[in-house]
Amino acid sequence: MTLFRTKSIEQSLRDTEAPEHRLRRRLSALDLVVFGVGVIIGTGIFVLTGQVARDLAGPAVAVSFVIAAIACGLAALCYAEFASTVPVAGSAYTFAYATLGEFPAWIIGWDLMLELALAAAVVSVGWSGYFVSLLGTLGIELPPAIAGEEGFFNLPAVLIVLLLTAVLVAGIKVSSRFNMILVAVKTAVVLLVIFAGLFFINLENYTPFIPPAQQTEGVSGLGAPLIQVLFGVTPTAYGITGIFSAAAIVFFAYIGFDIVATAAEETKNPQRDMPIGILGSLAVCTLLYVAVSLVVVGMQPYQQLTTAAPLADAFRAVDAPWLAGLISIGAITGLTTVVLILMLGQTRVFFAMSRDRLFPPVLAKVHPKYGTPARVTILLGVVVAVLAGFIPLSALAELVNIGTLFAFVVVSIAVAVLRRTRPDLPRAFRTPLVPLVPILSILASVYLMLNLPVETWLRFLVWMIIGVVIYFAYGMRHSRVGRQEADG
Ligand code: ALA
Repeated sequence: MTLFRTKSIEQSLRDTEAPEHRLRRRLSALDLVVFGVGVIIGTGIFVLTGQVARDLAGPAVAVSFVIAAIACGLAALCYAEFASTVPVAGSAYTFAYATLGEFPAWIIGWDLMLELALAAAVVSVGWSGYFVSLLGTLGIELPPAIAGEEGFFNLPAVLIVLLLTAVLVAGIKVSSRFNMILVAVKTAVVLLVIFAGLFFINLENYTPFIPPAQQTEGVSGLGAPLIQVLFGVTPTAYGITGIFSAAAIVFFAYIGFDIVATAAEETKNPQRDMPIGILGSLAVCTLLYVAVSLVVVGMQPYQQLTTAAPLADAFRAVDAPWLAGLISIGAITGLTTVVLILMLGQTRVFFAMSRDRLFPPVLAKVHPKYGTPARVTILLGVVVAVLAGFIPLSALAELVNIGTLFAFVVVSIAVAVLRRTRPDLPRAFRTPLVPLVPILSILASVYLMLNLPVETWLRFLVWMIIGVVIYFAYGMRHSRVGRQEADG
């Protein structure tokens, strides 16, 4: 029973009022859409597009983006109902605590670290790659030993993480204004890719649109998608199955709309603004991604796309190096906001978990002057900086995807459960067609998870087992809800 004790929604809302734990409500709907776009557009479109078009989907990568967007859209409908009903920091973690119980909530909070902290480290390593390449264009060479995935230490990645940590400690309004400028630059650059790229499209590059399925090295052994292994099919790239494998990877490009939900407690009018923020930012990004991917595979034969900076390199390939330079600057800007908001989301989840004493409660203190959870922010900044500085994380992007998709599954289940257990709650935004939409959302997320490689599943299982051990060793005994129950 203990494992499934829930924290009532009223309790969650009351907690946000305790003065020593209160965050400030300052964000508007526009702030949220900007937040969403700020965290969504990043490594996915700037880096992964080239790799998956070349290795898995060919020109049909645009279809993969649509498939991933459908899965995200279904989940977004569920996230929007929750975020408008339970406007409390902690996102999926808080939702799960209110509906499924403490243990599932812990599991989801633990799992969210893959989505947030790990992704922040992955993206800051990508940031460093673009930064180093831009410096190279300007004639400044950093020693590879301290700046690059091959080196023993990634200095630019560490510095950007620490700088953004300071921004977060200084206050959310500061971060949001800072973010707004960077997002404007990034969006302008994405539009530049689309409209300038149109002039360089060669229609021949679109045939074959779906290259025939083939066996390749990339999809053998532990690198094979689980679904092909389960059904005893020889793993292949390209073809229809390639489009789905690619969808499971470019899914990374959409991660972030759900993070908007983590800012619910700091939103002025969450009931109205949350759904606008979540669904709006997802819609904007889907349009941009489909357009960018169609343009890029039209500019170059897919086999020639590069993997480090495919958008910039496509312009270099058609002899427009100055555009390539602008795009690199846009990518650096874009990746900065992604790291910033991923870290912001993670601090809010940690904050909620330590406020509930599943982590030590000292972490949940709000800074008296800045009004931000400064301690968790600094702790997180150090952890992410160490990860980004010492571990080459590019292969772990798929681990981020599986963690996020798992969270989508839990939220979709929870939305249907909450309709049954608390039909009385006022819901400013209602997910349409419950339980159909939640069920479709679960199926879509599970399907994408099955398209991820076997090794990703193994890493995911190991991480979750560690989480279970920590819960039984610490959280279960210290839980605030548990203590209150014991005291009657
Ligand atoms: N969606 C974010 C990106 O593509 C995580 O970098």
